Amino acid sequence: MSKTRWKSGLLGMVGPLGLALAMVYAPAPVVGADPGEGFRLSLTCAGCHGTDGAAPGETIPILGGQRADYLRAALADYKSGTRDFYVMNFIARAYSDDQIGAIADWFAAKPWVDTPTRTRAIGISGGAGETCAECHGEGGGGSGKGPRIAGQPAAYLLEAMMAYKAGTRGGDGGAAMKVLAEVGDGEIEDLAHHYAGLR
Ligand code: HEC
Ligand code: HEC
Repeated sequence: MSKTRWKSGLLGMVGPLGLALAMVYAPAPVVGADPGEGFRLSLTCAGCHGTDGAAPGETIPILGGQRADYLRAALADYKSGTRDFYVMNFIARAYSDDQIGAIADWFAAKPWVDTPTRTRAIGISGGAGETCAECHGEGGGGSGKGPRIAGQPAAYLLEAMMAYKAGTRGGDGGAAMKVLAEVGDGEIEDLAHHYAGLR
C-alpha cells in the first residue's frame, strides 16, 4: 500500500536519475576500499539520504552513524534482490562488493544526526518493547544483532515493520523480525513513534 505510494513518488525521479546513474556508473572501475572512495561514492546518495547520511525525509532512512555491518547487509540484500525497492535495487547493482564495503564504512564513521521529522513522543511499557532491546540494544541504539532504530523517522520505521509483518521484506536478517507477527498494528505504530522519539 504505502510502499506503492512512495514508489510512485520516487518513480518521477527514476527516469532522469536512472540516466544520470547509468552515465556515472557505466565505467565503474573496481578499486580497493579507501576512505576517499567512500566519500566519492557517497555523493550519489546525498540527494536522497542527505549530507553525510542525515536523511531529511519522513520515509528515507538515516545512514550516517548506522552500523557498518547492517549497511553492508542491507546493500547486499538490495543487490541480490532479497530486499525489494526499485531505486535501491538499481543503485546497489551498480557497485562491486568492495565498493559497497567502502560506502558502508564511510557512512558508519559519520556521526548520527537526528533530523526533524514528525514524531509523537510515546512511552511503551512491557509487551513487545522488551524483546526489541535484545537485538536493537537498550534505547534502540543498535547491537551486533540488529541495526540502530532510535531516531529514524517514525514513518520509515512503521513502513519497515509493516513490511516484515507482511513478510514482504526478506533476507536472512528479516527472519529475526518474525517477532512482529504476534504484535498488533496499533502497537507497531506506537513502537515506531517510541523509537523515532529516542534521540
Ligand atoms: C532516489 C533516492 C535514493 C538514492 C539516490 C539512494 N537511496 Fe538509499 N534508500 C532510498 C529509500 C527510499 C530507501 C528506503 C527503501 C526501503 O524501504 O527499502 C533507501 C534505503 C537505503 C538503505 C537501507 C537503510 C536501512 O535502514 O535499512 C541503505 C543502506 C541505502 N539506502 C544506501 C544508499 C546508498 C549507499 C546510496 C548511494 C550509493 C543510496 N542509498 C542512494 C532512497 C535512495
Ligand atoms: C532476534 C533479534 C531481533 C528482535 C527481537 C527484534 N529485531 Fe528488529 N531487526 C533485527 C535485525 C537483524 C534487523 C535487520 C533485518 C534485515 O536485514 O532486514 C532488524 C530490523 C528492524 C527494523 C528495520 C530497521 C531499518 O533500518 O530498516 C526495525 C524498524 C526493527 N527491526 C524494529 C524492531 C522492533 C520495534 C522490535 C521489537 C518489537 C524488534 N525490531 C525486535 C533483529 C531483531
